[in-house]
Amino acid sequence: MKNFLSVNDVSDVQGLVDEALRMKAHPQNSKIGAGKKLGLIFMNPSLRTRVSSQAAALNLGMEVIVLNTSGDSWQLEFEEGAIMNGKSAEHVKEAAAVMGQYFDVLGVRTFPSLQNREDDYSEKVLYAFVKYAGIPIVSLESATLHPLQSLADAITIYENSVSINNRNPRVVLMWAPHIKPLPQSVPNSFAQWMNAWGKVDFVISHPQGYELDKQFSQNAPVINDQEEALKDADFIYVKNWSSVNDYGKILPVEENWMLTNKKLKLTNKAKVMHCLPVRRNLVLSDEVLESEASLVIEEAGNRVWAAQAVLSSILKNG
Ligand code: CP
Repeated sequence: MKNFLSVNDVSDVQGLVDEALRMKAHPQNSKIGAGKKLGLIFMNPSLRTRVSSQAAALNLGMEVIVLNTSGDSWQLEFEEGAIMNGKSAEHVKEAAAVMGQYFDVLGVRTFPSLQNREDDYSEKVLYAFVKYAGIPIVSLESATLHPLQSLADAITIYENSVSINNRNPRVVLMWAPHIKPLPQSVPNSFAQWMNAWGKVDFVISHPQGYELDKQFSQNAPVINDQEEALKDADFIYVKNWSSVNDYGKILPVEENWMLTNKKLKLTNKAKVMHCLPVRRNLVLSDEVLESEASLVIEEAGNRVWAAQAVLSSILKNG
């Protein structure tokens, strides 16, 4: 693997899931990263991605340096030909190239503005690092995708599907309410991975107006009736996202889409997933999060093995 920006960088999704599970069973079997350095640039907050990536790199023998650009570094400019007489003190052309001098692999987290769809969906920040750093780039969540999260999600679904025989598990990506407009990165990425994996019966459920971009959701069936979508579900992947068409906006929704234990009774004893952080009793109820149905902690734990499998694959590529 050269870069890890989306599922399109993965030649065999099941092979990567299997590799991650081998690492989960034997975390320190390989020290392929000995003598190598991983840089992690965070332009936005993170708990899981920040720590799981470091833990994964340490397991492989890598050294890690984390840079938080919000307070610790110069504000970066990304526009080509910009006259830099505003707040930005350094262009990504120099900043990324300098990072490329210090590290063997570079992870980048960059959220969307949610102001300008064309800008966000062009992934100009992430691709600037790919272009100018000259070393492999790992997305730590970009404007449109969160592939390390999706790989951890696939691992979690695979591990929890052992009792389902002779059919693919039914996995429902389900919209949930929120008070703030959130990116579409996690649902876009989850849809892209489920479609590419091909090992699940994948359905998307959301209120009218919250359609995802077809380049990620492809031909996955969409069910706008929440109760209908819950029927026969084996996994419910709960996530809020803001509107794509009315870009970055929260649209009015009459029904309360928060998942409750009562709604879970409509499913096939479904397991519940969420990438975290989650706002309790807004996105998911206490009762669901604290029930046996919840996989959220296990899912977050699998972030280490996802990152380790990806870093190992990049290091093997040389
Ligand atoms: N799920 C996830 O990426 O969590 P963080 O934002 O805390 O890294």
